[in-house]
This record gives sequence, structure tokens and C-alpha cells, in this order.
Amino acid sequence: MALWSGRFEQGVDAFTQEFGASLAVDRVMYKQDIAGSRAHARMLAAQGIITDEDALRIVEGLATIEHAIDSGDFVFDVNDEDIHMAIEKALTEAIGDPGARLHTGRSRNDQVATDTRLYVKELLRSLMGHNAALRGTLLAQAKIHLGVVMPGYTHLQHAQPVLFSHHLLAYFWMLARDHARLEQAYRSADLCPLGAAALAGTSYPLDRETTAGELGFAAVSPNSLDAVSDRDYLLDLCYACSVSMVHLSRLCEELILWSSSEFGFITLADSFSTGSSIMPQKKNPDFAELVRGKTGRVVGDLVALLMVLKALPLAYNKDLQEDKEGSFDAAKTLADALVCMEGMLATMQVNAEAMRAQAQKGFLAATDVADYLAKRGVPFREAHEVVGSLVLLCEKRGCGLEDLALEDFQQASSLFEADIVGSLDIEAIVAVRNTFGGTGHEAVKAQIALAEETLASQGPEGL
Ligand code: ARG
Repeated sequence: MALWSGRFEQGVDAFTQEFGASLAVDRVMYKQDIAGSRAHARMLAAQGIITDEDALRIVEGLATIEHAIDSGDFVFDVNDEDIHMAIEKALTEAIGDPGARLHTGRSRNDQVATDTRLYVKELLRSLMGHNAALRGTLLAQAKIHLGVVMPGYTHLQHAQPVLFSHHLLAYFWMLARDHARLEQAYRSADLCPLGAAALAGTSYPLDRETTAGELGFAAVSPNSLDAVSDRDYLLDLCYACSVSMVHLSRLCEELILWSSSEFGFITLADSFSTGSSIMPQKKNPDFAELVRGKTGRVVGDLVALLMVLKALPLAYNKDLQEDKEGSFDAAKTLADALVCMEGMLATMQVNAEAMRAQAQKGFLAATDVADYLAKRGVPFREAHEVVGSLVLLCEKRGCGLEDLALEDFQQASSLFEADIVGSLDIEAIVAVRNTFGGTGHEAVKAQIALAEETLASQGPEGL
């Protein structure tokens, strides 16, 4: 029998019953649903709306149900539309009238919003933990490989030499921003809708502050219509997950390139690679590819939710039931991706020689040669021209800038002196880039210290 059977003459159609159900998705929120009901029952008793005896029976009954679900003994009835109905029905069957009083001054509309917010807060905490773990690994690798030089790229063309640590730390900061976005999503979820009732509040003297406090919410939602129709916290979650997946997809793309024979910069561990069923020599970066591929699905979750909410009138509409599946999927996919990337980075082998050899190619010292002239008074644009002609000369000869003789330099500009010849060493070029945030050793050491500080202060515990 449906909860609204009083108004209806006919039972539900089996197809629409199944079509309209969300139990398969929302049953994961049973602990949150029970916590919400417990807080609501206690508050009803404290306010004199139900008796203390009823509240006690409700709380005890809920504990039994929670235990049964925990242990897998609870039999879910496919005819229950959602977790809220399943638990309320089981409670009423178990304890009778007190169970039927629980729904006083409450609606499934505020109940589902409360449960989802509580559940999402937990998801976000765990995502923040995984985010911090991956940043810890990036930082550890940056420290271990501090001396390793690689080509820095723009347009995927050799540009200037950088420290491998500097490149890894770039991802640290992307992920630090992801953490801030997760925190923001946490804050938008941290508001209690309970007591908004169906849409307009209620004439019962509910104490919304108390239920919000017992459930660990930072505050009470200030508008009952907004309370039951707001899903911004899920948008924020999906957006935070999407951006983070996009960041991971960029890292994956680089790991895939770096582990190719053409680059050979890294070797992924066997445990983070797969072979081919036909080509015995193959070692494929499948998991990096999979994380890259799953990015599309998470962005899809965000777009789907935006479309559910577009033009939706106030307050609750059944469309909103479509909010959870994609959001939970986005969180689960990002959590798995973060765990996967953490393991992949912790176990990868870094081939410093291959990186250094590549840094030797592609005239990575060109900017520094131009700077050499500019520091001696040549306007930079002019210096750029001079070095361009030297690069052309090298290309014709098939050599590097470091192979040119002093006479070659001096033919291009009389300002070149003997010290130019020895100053084109790749390590020396990297070492001098010590502007704040630059790739020089000293600057990167300072950056590592800053990253460590950020990581220590940006844990999920702060919330
Ligand atoms: N299963 C519903 C959902 O997930 C719960 C709220 C239903 N409320 C309603 N008035 N039909 O959105």
C-alpha cells in the first residue's frame, strides 16, 4: 500500500511503480536517512509534538533497522519507491503507531534533500582525502627527482629546459585548486533543509536549529521553497569533480606520451599497465587512458544535472529524483581516478637520462642567448633576431647552439664574449631561473616548502 493510499482508488501500475522508483540509487543513503529521522523524532519530543515514549520507540526501532541493513538482513521491497519509504514502512511495521507519527511536520522533499546533503558531505570528505594523498605523492616524487632536467614545452615543441619536479608541482597546484573547489561544494551542502516540510514550512513548533545541530550541519536553510528545490551543492560537487577529472586527464595524457618509445621519460609499473592479447611486446598505459576516458563521463554527469535543473519551477518536482545517480557516479569516478593516479605516480620509474638527452635538443638555450645580448644593452627584439639567425645556422650545420664556436657568435654580434660558450649548459640555464614560481633549483625548493605548507593546512580536517 502506498503512503498516499487514502487519496487513491487504484493501486499503482507495475511499470510506473518501477519507472518511478529510486530505491536502487538512494538506498546507499540509509544511514543518513536514519540519522535524519532520529534527529527529527528527538526534536519532535523535545518540542512536545510527540511523547518521549514515542520518540524512544522510534529511535530504538531505527537502530534495529540500521543494524539489519548493515548486516544485509534487511529485505528491501521493490514496491518501495525510495529509501525514505522503505525505512518508514519497516519502522511502522515494527513499532506501529509511534512509527506512523515520525512523519509529523516533515516531507520526503526535505528528507531527501537532508539525506543527500549529509551523504554528499561524506563523499566530499573522502574525495578531499584522496586529493591530498595524490598531492602528497606528487610532492614526494618532486623531492626525490629534484635534479632531473627535462624539456619544457609549448605547442608540444621544445621550449626551455625545466626541472621535472617543477612540472610535477604544476599538477600539485592544479589539485590544490581542486581541493578548494571540493571545500566549496562541502560548504554549499552544509545547510539543513529539514523542517521546510513539503515546501512552505509547517505550523508545528519545530526547532530546526536543534535538528541541524544534531546532524552536524553548519546552519539551517533560510527559505523553505529553496530548501527543497536547491541542488546547487550537487552542481558544485559535479563541477568540482569535472574540473579535477579534466586535470587528471591532462596528467594522464602526459604520462601516456612520456611512456611511449618516442619519449621514454618514464616507465609505468607493471601493476599499472596491461599487455596485448596478440602483440607479446606490448605494455600499454591502459589505466592512464581509462582515467582520461572517464573524464567524459563525469563532465556528462555535470551537464545532465544542469539540464535537469534548467527551467525547473519551484519547488520540488519529480525531475529532481534524477539528481543523485550522476552526482554519486561523478564522485565515485573521481575517487577511483585519484586512487589510481596516486598508485601510478608512486610506482612509476623516472628515466632521467632520456629526459636530459631530449633537453639537449631543440635549441632550449635560445632564449638565454638572447637574454645574454639584452643584458648587454641590445633591445630584446633585436637580440631575438640575432639568435634566430644563429639557430638557422645551427639547423643548416645540423648542430646545437652549444656546438657553435665563439667566432660564430661574434659574427652575429660583436657583443658576444668568450663566456657565452660555456654558459649554454642545460643545467646552468635551469639553475638561474629563480624568480618566485620559476624552475630554478632554489625557486623549486621554495615551492616545495610552500606546497608542503599548503598540503598540511588544506586537509579535510579543517572542515
Ligand atoms: N525519491 C524522491 C527523490 O529522490 C524523494 C522525494 C519524493 N517526493 C515527492 N514528493 N515525490 O527525489
